[in-house]
Amino acid sequence: MSASKTTARMSVPALRARKGGEPIVCLTAYTAPVARLLDPHVDLLLVGDSLGMVVYGFDSTLPVTLDLMIAHGAAVVRGSQRACVVVDLPFGSYQESPQAAFRNAARVMAETGAQAVKLEGGAEMAETVAFLTSRGVPVMGHVGLLPQSVNALGGYKAVGRDPASAERIRDDARAIAEAGAFSLVIEGTMESLARQITEDVAVPTIGIGASPACDGQVLVSDDMLGLFSDFQPKFVKRYAQLGAAMGEAAAAYAAEVKARTFPGPEHCFGVKKS
Ligand code: KIV
Repeated sequence: MSASKTTARMSVPALRARKGGEPIVCLTAYTAPVARLLDPHVDLLLVGDSLGMVVYGFDSTLPVTLDLMIAHGAAVVRGSQRACVVVDLPFGSYQESPQAAFRNAARVMAETGAQAVKLEGGAEMAETVAFLTSRGVPVMGHVGLLPQSVNALGGYKAVGRDPASAERIRDDARAIAEAGAFSLVIEGTMESLARQITEDVAVPTIGIGASPACDGQVLVSDDMLGLFSDFQPKFVKRYAQLGAAMGEAAAAYAAEVKARTFPGPEHCFGVKKS
C-alpha cells in the first residue's frame, strides 16, 4: 500500500519539536469556514469543548457529547489543510477508565481525521494518557484551571495561587508529560507557576491565561474576535470587534428590507434571452 496523498499538515512530532523554539500559535475552531480562515495563521486548531458555551449556549462545557465533538472535529479537518487539529475529549468520555478513553478517542481519530485528542486532568489521568499514547493516540494534556471540573472548583477562577496548590499543579504537569503527552495546555494560573512547569517538562506548554512564559498561546477564537459575549476575561485580548460588525450589518439589512431598497435590481433575476 502506498500513500498517494502528501500532506503539508503540521504533525504531532513537528509540534513537539517546537519546545523552547518559535512560539506555537493556537486558536480554537468549531466550523469548516472558520477553520479555513484561521488555518494559514496558526500551527494548531483546537476543537475545544468550549464549543458547548460558544456555539450551543450552554453555561458550562459539561453537556457536550462525543458525537458533537466528532461532528465539529470533522468539519474543522475538512476546512483546514496545514494546521495540526486537536479535538477535546468531552466530559464523561475518558475519566471512567483507560479502556473507555481509548474507545472514545479511537472514534474521534477515525471519524474526524484529527491528529490528536486533548483531555483535562493531572496525575489521576496519567495512566490513561500512557494507555492512549502507547496505542497510537497522541494526547495533549490540560492542567491548571480545568473547565470540566467547574462544579468541583466552584467557578472559573485562577488556580495555583498558593504554594500547596501550585505544587500540586506542577506535579500534575510532570505526571502528564511523563506519561507521554506531546504537549500541555496550562490554563488560568500565575506566570511563576507557568514558567516552572515550562522549565520542568520536556514538551511544549500552551498557555491560556497563563502568561507569556509558555511555549505557545491559545485563545478561544470567538473571544479574541469579539463574537462571544460582552464580558471580556482578563486574559483575553480583543483583536477584532466582529460582534459589533455583525450587529451593524444586521441593522443595515433590516433597514433596507423595510425601505424596500434590498433587493435592488442587481440582485434580481431577469428573463433568460433565448
Ligand atoms: O475548550 C477549549 O476551548 C479549551 C481551551 C480553552 C484551551 O480547552
